[in-house]
Amino acid sequence: MTAERLVVVSNRLPVVLKRSGSDTWQITPGSGGLVTAMGPVLRNRGGMWIGWPGLASEDCPDEESLGRLLTEGGSRSGYALKYVYLDRDEIDRYYYGFANEILWPLFHDLFPQCNFDPVYWEAYEGVNCKFARCVVEHAGKNDYVWVHDYHLILVARELRRMGLGHRIGFFLHVPFPPLDIFLKLPWRFQILEALLEYDLIGFQTVRDRRNFIGCIRALLGYKVKGRGQIGSIIMNDREVHVGAFPISIDFKEFSDLARSGEVADQAWIVHANLPKMQLILGVDRLDYTKGIPHRLLAFDNALTRYPELRRKVTLIQVVVPSRREVEEYEKLKQEIERLVGEINGKYTEVGWSPIHYIFHTLTRTELVAYYRTCEIALITPLKDGMNLVAKEYCASSIEDNGVLILSEFAGAAAQLYQDALLVNPYDRQGVADAIYKAFSMNEEQRRERMRRLRNQIRRHDIIDWVDSFLRAGIAKGLDDFPLTEFFVPRQ
Ligand code: F6P
Repeated sequence: MTAERLVVVSNRLPVVLKRSGSDTWQITPGSGGLVTAMGPVLRNRGGMWIGWPGLASEDCPDEESLGRLLTEGGSRSGYALKYVYLDRDEIDRYYYGFANEILWPLFHDLFPQCNFDPVYWEAYEGVNCKFARCVVEHAGKNDYVWVHDYHLILVARELRRMGLGHRIGFFLHVPFPPLDIFLKLPWRFQILEALLEYDLIGFQTVRDRRNFIGCIRALLGYKVKGRGQIGSIIMNDREVHVGAFPISIDFKEFSDLARSGEVADQAWIVHANLPKMQLILGVDRLDYTKGIPHRLLAFDNALTRYPELRRKVTLIQVVVPSRREVEEYEKLKQEIERLVGEINGKYTEVGWSPIHYIFHTLTRTELVAYYRTCEIALITPLKDGMNLVAKEYCASSIEDNGVLILSEFAGAAAQLYQDALLVNPYDRQGVADAIYKAFSMNEEQRRERMRRLRNQIRRHDIIDWVDSFLRAGIAKGLDDFPLTEFFVPRQ
């Protein structure tokens, strides 16, 4: 039986709502890894995206206006948008609480940062149930329901309780931790059992998949078939498929945009203002998993140990505001700004400051202009599911002259390790040495490495990712959800 539509379920909808007057609202496309990845997949295929509109229900437009705004947003993107309303309390406990104070740090191996408050679990269950109800209300019986990320692990469990027999897939965008870390979670059995309610569970890397299987074997004792990319967990009455599907980007979109006149103009302005300089680029959401302070200290170390870098390199560090209501993030911002100030204070000379610090969201054109023009990308998360910035940088590096310095703890390292300069982000001297190596690399080596990186990402782009997930989930590819020329969202 052919699945009729793709129904994507994620915590956030791929749009942002902003008040533009006392009673008027604007709807604009959202940003972030999941949106960048799934947007091109769903676009114009007449599917559906279910999620939270990003504001507390108390601050949202009324239901009728919200419905109208989302219909408008859906028509523009070629798929329907359905919302789950969350009140302030739910947002505090489910999103800021269970998702961001428990699962986020735990899954990134930072369990001392977890706050295992039991009220968060209740809210997590309640909100997952709300999402499941929204699926039941809107999904047709032949639709393929594809749930995304750590916020919504319990959705399949709730759907099964409501009697839904659909095939349901789940993809975890963040890493899955090893057994000794996962064991700390007070709700470890509930989380594992809930994951087994899906028919297919996808992870970013073979390592994440192996960690998950390790937990299943140790805590639930099920047998597992297959190894490497894909395998199954053998349960009494059924099998659950478990695979590694490294997510990617729309390579062509980035590479075409990088070739456009507007990007060329912006890129020229950047370099014209920082002449005779190699530019090193860091782009991250404000998050303690991204290792920004560690990176700044490594850059400091490089300037001390390799004085020939002074006046010859500038680090452009872009930090995109995120989760501002979590105290940890505010403290991190202060720490980053203190370090930027300290390093600039230490090395700045007339006409040169070592760090340009940007704390706001860039437009896509600005971002790609930085990707295109910066000779080195310094991407050093302490742990990351994939890190799409690394792939976007390569796709936009159309002159083939960029060097990618990449953390070995980013999921992307499993695919890009041969031609990136891999570093341990905790090793300050090692990162400093890699900066110097990238700075000194000749044109030919840069080109060879970047060409191979670009080929790898071109071959394994976002369509390849979706196809491999859908083939494993429902033995279909994206072409089985054809493009609709004149799309009218089905309500
Ligand atoms: O990497 C996981 C992820 O959920 C991304 O999809 C998203 O861009 C990012 O974290 C930030 O998410 P949020 O702002 O919704 O917490």
